[in-house]
Amino acid sequence: MAVYQVVTIGDEILRDKAKEVTKFDDRIYKLLNNMMETLMKEDGVGLAAPQIGVSKRVIIAYHEENDKVIELINPEIISASGEVIDNEGCLSVPGRVGKVNRSKDIVVRGQNADGEPIQFNASGMFARIIQHEIDHLNGILFIDKLEKEENA
Ligand code: CO
Repeated sequence: MAVYQVVTIGDEILRDKAKEVTKFDDRIYKLLNNMMETLMKEDGVGLAAPQIGVSKRVIIAYHEENDKVIELINPEIISASGEVIDNEGCLSVPGRVGKVNRSKDIVVRGQNADGEPIQFNASGMFARIIQHEIDHLNGILFIDKLEKEENA
């Protein structure tokens, strides 16, 4: 396991569409562990694999109510409702924060580290983090969606 340097804006990998995971082997476990350690070290609330230089559809997101980091492979939002505007930042865009409009409630589908299908509802900050991280897999950064820049 290792802590990785978080890739920052300007690196092309952040603008690529990440590849779907088709093989669930040790490499995925290792990737998830590295992402987890990096997130802890950076004191973040979410991370997508491209942020540590791996262009795969893998995200982790902190769920505050359960004090747990959720791992999600090949995540997809299958339904969304409501809108909330709130502040966001990103480990890959240091020094910038601002208001971003996100869906309030979402239903997310994906796979766990063993490739088993999972599906769950998310709302509030957890839903925001998941939407932010899925955007990373599609080469989208929160600054692309910024409604209003705030002082960092
Ligand atoms: Co981010």
